[in-house]
Amino acid sequence: MIQTGLTDLFNLRHPIVLAPMAGVAGGQLAAAVSNAGGLGLVGGGYGDAAWLRKELFSTRENTSRPWGVGLITWAVNQRVIDLVLSYQPDAVMLSFGDPRPYGAFVKAAGCRLICQVQDLNEARLAQQAGADLIVAQGTEAGGHGGTRATLPLVPAVVDAVAPTPVLAAGGIADGRGLAAALALGAHGALIGTRFYASTEAQGRPSAKQRIVAAHGNETLRTPVFDIVRGYGWPQGYYGRALHNAFVTRWSGREEELMQALPAERTAYHEAMGDGNFDTTVVWAGEAVDLIHSVEDAAALVERISLEAEARLRASAALLR
Ligand SMILES: Cc1cc2nc3c(=O)[nH]c(=O)nc-3n(C[C@H](O)[C@H](O)[C@H](O)COP(=O)(O)O)c2cc1C
Repeated sequence: MIQTGLTDLFNLRHPIVLAPMAGVAGGQLAAAVSNAGGLGLVGGGYGDAAWLRKELFSTRENTSRPWGVGLITWAVNQRVIDLVLSYQPDAVMLSFGDPRPYGAFVKAAGCRLICQVQDLNEARLAQQAGADLIVAQGTEAGGHGGTRATLPLVPAVVDAVAPTPVLAAGGIADGRGLAAALALGAHGALIGTRFYASTEAQGRPSAKQRIVAAHGNETLRTPVFDIVRGYGWPQGYYGRALHNAFVTRWSGREEELMQALPAERTAYHEAMGDGNFDTTVVWAGEAVDLIHSVEDAAALVERISLEAEARLRASAALLR
C-alpha cells in the first residue's frame, strides 16, 4: 500500500484521483473510482445545473466513500458553487481561472479545496485561495491546459507551495507514471485520459475506441473546437484532442473558421448528434500510447497502484 498526504487527507487506499472530465466523468465513473479506493471527481465542467443535479445525486447514491466535483472556474458563478456544495461533496476542484473568489465558500462548507494549476503564478493564487491540494498539470494532459511539461513543472510547484501537498497530472496512465509522480515529490496522480477509456465513462464507445487506437503524436493543443462550439476560453488555455479531419481543415485558419460560423457550428452540432468524430472532438492526452483497451475503472485503479508499488520497490533495489 502507498500512503501519502493525499491518501491521509481522504482516507484512500490508492493515491489516485479521477480527473473531473466534463461530459465524461459522470456519477457512475466517479463512484466507481471512489469505491475502488481512489478519489472520484465528477466533471462538472461549465456548470450545467440539470446535469450536475443528476450526476451528483447518482454519485452520492452509489458510494459511501469520499468523492468530489470539478468545475471550470472562469465559466461558473456563486450559484453553481452553492448548488455543488448542497450535495456535500468531500472535495471541490477548481481549474482554469482565479479560484480566490470561491475558496472560502468551499472551505466554510467543510469541503476540501483542490486547485489545478498550469504554472507557478497560478500555484501561488491557489495557495492564496486556501487550497488543501494543488494539482500541477503538464501540457501532455488531455483536455484544456497550458504549455509547461509535467516533468519539470511538478517539482517546481512542489517547491513553490510547500508544505501544501501537490498532485501530478498530464501523461500519467499506468503505474510507471504514478511512481514517477511520487518520485518528483507529488502525493499522487490525477488521471484523465486513461479513465476516458473505461467502461463507466460517459461518452460514446466509438470515442473510447479512438483513444485505444491512437498514438501520442496524434494529439495536439488546438483552439478550433472552442471556436466552433463558441466557448470563450481565456487566452493561454487550449484543449488537447485527437487529431481529426476537422483539425486538418481548420488548424492555422482560425480567422477563416470564425468567418465561416454559424454554418460550421450547425454542421458541428449535426456531427455531434451522429457521433461523427472525424468532425467532433475527442479530448485526449499524450498518454494514449499506453492505453490498449477499455477497462473497468476499479481494475484500472487497482492495477495502476499495484504497478506503482512494484516500480517503487524495483527502484529501491537499485540502491547500493
Ligand atoms: C476528456 C477530458 C475532459 C476534461 N475536462 C476537464 C474539465 O472539465 N475540467 C478540468 O479541470 N479538467 C478537465 N480535463 C483535464 C483533466 O483535469 C486532467 O488535467 C487531465 O486529464 C490529466 O492528463 P491526462 O489526460 O494525461 O491524464 C479533461 C481531460 C480530458 C481527457
